Amino acid sequence: MATPPPSPLVLGIETSCDETAAAVVGGDGTILSNVVLSQVSEHAVYGGVVPEIAARAHVRYLPQVIAQALAQAEVEIADIDAVAATGGPGLIGGVIVGMTMGKAMAAAAEKAFIAVNHLEGHALTVRLTHQTPFPYLLLLVSGGHCQFVIVHALGRYERLGGTLDDALGEAFDKVAKLLGLGYPGGPAVEKLARTGDANAYDFPVPLLGRAGCDFSFSGLKTAVRLAAERDAPLAAQQKADICAAFQQAACASLEDRSRNAMAVFRARCPAGASLVLAGGVAANQRIREQLREVAETAGLSLICPPAALCTDNAAMIAWAGMERYRANLLSELDAEPRARWPLEELQPLQAES
Ligand code: KG4
Ligand code: ZN
Repeated sequence: MATPPPSPLVLGIETSCDETAAAVVGGDGTILSNVVLSQVSEHAVYGGVVPEIAARAHVRYLPQVIAQALAQAEVEIADIDAVAATGGPGLIGGVIVGMTMGKAMAAAAEKAFIAVNHLEGHALTVRLTHQTPFPYLLLLVSGGHCQFVIVHALGRYERLGGTLDDALGEAFDKVAKLLGLGYPGGPAVEKLARTGDANAYDFPVPLLGRAGCDFSFSGLKTAVRLAAERDAPLAAQQKADICAAFQQAACASLEDRSRNAMAVFRARCPAGASLVLAGGVAANQRIREQLREVAETAGLSLICPPAALCTDNAAMIAWAGMERYRANLLSELDAEPRARWPLEELQPLQAES
């Protein structure tokens, strides 16, 4: 006889950007299924995500992606305890599709419904993969977000700083577009950087040496554009050199900003032991290696979820849903999808008595 699935079970749905994803996760941290259908090919011709195309693709693919996630987990909707869907922040058309589907399934099967903040999904992934205890310092770096957050407890997030202009993933994507490397840019830039000379170009390190935990990447992006225009047409080696120099400057900025953020974290939470790297850019090996050194020098260990759980996926949404389900922090069926939903706004849900 087959072993029974772990209990409780949460079905997660993620549709806030250009991944249509569904996953089933167990209360013991088992990922029973994690289906991610990337729409990359549908957006590649435009060099970025087109919101309406994304929303239509979610409508088209989500039913089959959910069916696949349930089938791979070898469970039926009746076996699920709660349905967790991304309720924002993100491209609103996609969020509406996923949330409406999640609500409908929860209502029809008489299950709990949880609207999950996408950023909370990224923030808590490390508790699914590494059982990391609170508090920890999170550096969330993705296509849409770039921020330091102290994760004090479920629902209690303190933002220490964020980007003043572009997110780092966005800067990687723009550099890739400029060099004709296609979309998404991060993996392409990282790959080409391996064969480049990082010292062939001298790009500025944004905010280097300044106080605070904010980021800025638009100046670096402009410096890359000016260099590429000056040296056009670019030879293959020059493109590799630009990628390497850009990545080096971006890394140096992350290191510098992380030192400041870690100092604040250590002062606020002396018992905290970890710097957690999450979001799509956390898939970058060079960034991981450099931040590991900086964290260790500051007496913290760097923890990164595996790359497949750093980029957008539904296992992280299911897991955040699991933590909320256990804490009885459920959503009503009239919960509204939100294009903008800062993590700090979750705090009232967890108000301490
Ligand atoms: O978390 P994510 O999948 O979606 C958002 O919520 O934004 O992050 C996607 C971003 C893209 O900008 C992509 O270029 C970047 O993460 N990215 C990388 C790498 N892999 C993905 N950036 C740098 N190096 C990588 N290896
Ligand atoms: Zn994301």
